[in-house]
Amino acid sequence: MLIPNREYAKLKESYLFRRIAEKTDAFQKEHPELPIYRMGIGDVTLPLCDAVISALHEAVNEQSRAETFQGYQPECGAPFLRQVIADHYADRGVLLEPDEVFVSSGASDELSDLLDLFDRSNTAMIMEPAYPAYVDTSIMTGRPIVRRSANMENGFLPMPDERMKADLIYLCSPNNPTGAVYTRTQLQQWVDYANACGAVILFDAAYEAYIEDAEIPHSIYELSGAKTCAIEICSLSKTAGFTGTRLGYTVVPKALTRDGMHLNAMWVRNRTTRTNGVSYILQKGAAAVFTAKGQLEIAGQLRYYKQNAGILMQALDAADVWYTGGKNAPYLWMKCPNGMDSWTFFDRLLKEIQVVGTPGDGFGACGKGFFRFSTFGSRRDTEIAAQRLTRLLQAWIN
Ligand code: MLT
Repeated sequence: MLIPNREYAKLKESYLFRRIAEKTDAFQKEHPELPIYRMGIGDVTLPLCDAVISALHEAVNEQSRAETFQGYQPECGAPFLRQVIADHYADRGVLLEPDEVFVSSGASDELSDLLDLFDRSNTAMIMEPAYPAYVDTSIMTGRPIVRRSANMENGFLPMPDERMKADLIYLCSPNNPTGAVYTRTQLQQWVDYANACGAVILFDAAYEAYIEDAEIPHSIYELSGAKTCAIEICSLSKTAGFTGTRLGYTVVPKALTRDGMHLNAMWVRNRTTRTNGVSYILQKGAAAVFTAKGQLEIAGQLRYYKQNAGILMQALDAADVWYTGGKNAPYLWMKCPNGMDSWTFFDRLLKEIQVVGTPGDGFGACGKGFFRFSTFGSRRDTEIAAQRLTRLLQAWIN
């Protein structure tokens, strides 16, 4: 008899962002006349920049001519893209060989695929609130989970605790959902801890482009010893507007070994078996992000979203609400007013002012009573949402 993966029975009935979309769609069906201001899922609204669009067009044209047509791409990434990404790291003082960089179809796909490298008995340590896919993919693959609490007391930045052991450690900085960022000293402690106990850190750097403070590391490899204990997962989704285009990259250093096995070689074996590479056209578009023109253009986009963050921060300040994030991250994490629970707050915002955010407890129990706003909306929507939010919160609190 076929036995299904019974771990799925342990998952919540539906994925967080799906539940939000369903609730929002149901409301919209009932009230088609009301515009909805979407600050829920972190999906970008600005179009791809000119440098990327030109490169994509050019690559499409290349695919139309026999002399320039490209078939299968190398499974781990086209050499031209692996090289420019390695050069990008070198600009920050992180030296990588191009074949330590793997091109992927996006960070979320990769975060789950990487679990193939580790035995199912390995324990995953997850700081909650957390991006829900960390928990769900660990459950799907039958891994034990150790939950660490990120809360107001520890500034949403749990630190290593010798009494709590794990084999895999998920770290996300700048953090989704809280916007908290680890300092260099704090991150060094995690690296030292992982090296001491033989754990591997899965470092989710999807939001590194939003870091403003010079002393905050963008990459875990800025810390000494990280190449022997960390895999870094990065994405162009939030950096260059690739949420619908799909492209990310992962660094698996050659120095990362466990029990005599080389994780870089294992990942090459995995990719060459499991994928036929990322589309040539998309890789050409991605390479354009790292050109001088691309970097200048995406800097403009990041500024735009940061201004959105400023608008939402002002709105929360005006209502005298406690929140964190928004400065080095594209998310704001607020405490729900009057002790309200996260889903009630969600429902009321949707019903009363048609603003959609993300309930904090969708990111784990420690998110109960909190709420997340994404800053990736259009300027107009962000301004309207901010005004409505201030008015509503002031009325409730006073
Ligand atoms: C989020 O809203 O947390 C992210 O956009 C989800 C994702 O990147 O998959």
